[in-house]
Amino acid sequence: MAHAVVILAAGLGTRMKSRLPKVLHPLLGKPLVGYCIDTAFASGAEKVVVVVGHGAEQVRQTFAGYPNLSFVVQEQQLGTAHALAQAQPVLADFQGPIVVTQGDTPLTRVETLTSLVDTLQKERAGMALLTMRLEDPTGYGRILRDEQGQILANVEQKDATPAELAIQEINPGVYCFDASLWEKLKLVDNRNAAGEYYLPDLIRIYREAGQKIASIESKDTGELLGVNSRAQLAQVERVLLERLRSHWMAQGVRMIQPETIYLEPSVELAPDVTLWPGVILRGHTRLGEGVEVGAYAVLIDTVVEAGGKIKSHTVCEEAYVSSGADAGPFARLRPKAHLEPGAHVGNFVELKNARLGRGAKAGHLAYLGDAEVGEESNIGAGVITANYDGQRKHKTIIGKRVFVGSNSVLIAPIRLEDDAFVAGGSGINQDVPAGALAIARERQRNIEGYVKRKRGETQ
Ligand code: UD1
Ligand code: CA
Repeated sequence: MAHAVVILAAGLGTRMKSRLPKVLHPLLGKPLVGYCIDTAFASGAEKVVVVVGHGAEQVRQTFAGYPNLSFVVQEQQLGTAHALAQAQPVLADFQGPIVVTQGDTPLTRVETLTSLVDTLQKERAGMALLTMRLEDPTGYGRILRDEQGQILANVEQKDATPAELAIQEINPGVYCFDASLWEKLKLVDNRNAAGEYYLPDLIRIYREAGQKIASIESKDTGELLGVNSRAQLAQVERVLLERLRSHWMAQGVRMIQPETIYLEPSVELAPDVTLWPGVILRGHTRLGEGVEVGAYAVLIDTVVEAGGKIKSHTVCEEAYVSSGADAGPFARLRPKAHLEPGAHVGNFVELKNARLGRGAKAGHLAYLGDAEVGEESNIGAGVITANYDGQRKHKTIIGKRVFVGSNSVLIAPIRLEDDAFVAGGSGINQDVPAGALAIARERQRNIEGYVKRKRGETQ
């Protein structure tokens, strides 16, 4: 029978010193508790319940729309057992195993959850828990065993005797229970040093009920890493980044100075992608085979097809770059910038909601907003689409093989038909017919001998 997972995430997180609830702090672009939720579902959970406290409404909204996910609120933080008890209304009729994890330890692995469920079932135990051995067990609950190695209880740091403090086997806080959990939770009291309802007291309660306590030991102490402060958040981020980089390198991605490259779990990379130092890849960015991204480029929710090239210091957001197209260095592709195959965008060119057709070029210093540029057209340096009249945005439509001379302003709405030619420095506010030359600037006048006269050198 499939299991359920309860994630305890009602703690205050005061050490983060933030207005944002701790469990919503982003870790590689994804909220902390999102890792626990994804791990829970990946383990095959039928239902997932998150116990939230501080900022409950905000947490709920962040994950709205997840099926089989519910939230319960723990109004007062009276301890981990009390937190778990809040999930009872949702799971009272659930007959399968119930896994409990902590919302601030995002590195807990899927296999840890599944092997706890397996162990509970195989050993017909009432409760199964994870344990670890640490050089320095300070702060964690210590596991007490009898001479036969049977687990007797957990003792919290605050309540431990000096002899118990020396125990190196600890409780990482990940458990699995049978369906009698809710009955047993009622027996937990708060007579301890912290005056809290301790969840690990269930060990003693299950044992007193004559049920077996099973355990599995994990060697991966990295799984334990919890986030209580900004520094720990950065540490966990470092671990996750290393995992991600190793994963993609094993898939054939070349990273130059990998430790300088930032990428998020939602990013997808094909073999033979090359990433130069300082590259930042965020959101649903997808890079095709052989794509090269130059140093310090930032790509957010951007697709680059096989063989596309993003040169250094280019910033792209919601952009699409087709095969053989390239952008940068120092280009800016804003949402809905679209380069068709072989299109080229050079330095200090900004595109927003603009499409460059096959082989079209905007080599330097231009702004193309709400524009369509036909294939093989050339946009000169300094060309600006004046797309905004102070109230509304207007479109600029440029046909095929059009030449727009440097420093021209195209005042939208405007249409330049195929093969049109705009003379440099023009202010264009009327459509240009196919094949026509448009020139819209003051005619030049040369005044002979002017300079000499001005200097008083009369002949
Ligand atoms: C807990 C365990 C300890 C274990 C450690 C592992 C208890 C009493 N102790 O201690 O044995 O070694 O985890 O990390 O359980 N929470 C609530 N509501 C509350 C209190 C806590 O939702 O009233 C949540 C927190 O948000 C957190 C989790 O439960 O995600 C653990 O709480 P925390 O206070 O961090 O427990 P520890 O002192 O670390
Ligand atoms: Ca903790």
